[in-house]
Amino acid sequence: MTVNDISPTLGWDDVYIVTTRDGSNTLYSRKFDALYHSAFGAVGESKHVFVQSGLSTQQNKPSISILEFGFGTGLNAFLAYLFSLKHHIEIHYTGIEAHPITQPIAAKLEYPEYLGCTEEKEIFERMHTRTEMEVEKFHFKLIPTIMALEAHMAFDCIFFDAFAPGAQPELWAQPMFDLLFRVTSSGGCIVTYCAQGEARRRMEAAGFSVERIPGPPGKREMLRGNKPQ
Ligand SMILES: C[S@@+](CC[C@H](N)C(=O)[O-])C[C@H]1O[C@@H](n2cnc3c(N)ncnc32)[C@H](O)[C@@H]1O
Repeated sequence: MTVNDISPTLGWDDVYIVTTRDGSNTLYSRKFDALYHSAFGAVGESKHVFVQSGLSTQQNKPSISILEFGFGTGLNAFLAYLFSLKHHIEIHYTGIEAHPITQPIAAKLEYPEYLGCTEEKEIFERMHTRTEMEVEKFHFKLIPTIMALEAHMAFDCIFFDAFAPGAQPELWAQPMFDLLFRVTSSGGCIVTYCAQGEARRRMEAAGFSVERIPGPPGKREMLRGNKPQ
């Protein structure tokens, strides 16, 4: 199955490229009037929020399963792939994306070039043309909607990377966090760049034990919710 089979893709009429303060690129969505990453640094934010504060806290496990809400440019998925290569750890990544971008747009973001791993460029680009693939110890899957999750699924780390509550309030409502809590494994966590009190309270109401931790450049704090063992 290819990405085009699951939902209509976004083109240059829908998004354009913006270079952020750390020199890495991101996209601006005209529909949601929002950037896909922080203007202070796309790669800096992704590494700090999702890799260092989320994925790496689960490194004690023999294999790690990740669920990302908002696959977007694929930057977080690609960083998770690089993490799997570097640490020789099995990762099962599932991304949810309702509005995939085209592969030519993904290529223009030049993440492999920015990250100094052009030898992995083909893998990054394949993430935008395939809904499933396996490379070394990395298992990749893309699904179009959260409704495609099955009741038995459990993830060690949730990358919650929806557009901000102001742009898509329905994605930050209580039912979303209740569902995400149900699919988080015991001892697993959810991370988000957002530090808003309302999001924290909803994560807590769902059952997570929530910490405010230092945020990426340009943001004082972010949230990590832990599911008890
Ligand atoms: C902040 S961006 C994600 C950035 C992404 N994590 C990355 O590394 O590039 C939010 C993403 O959520 C997607 N999105 C918006 N509404 C959605 C929905 N109802 N279901 C799934 N994805 C959605 C958008 O298309 C966008 O790609």
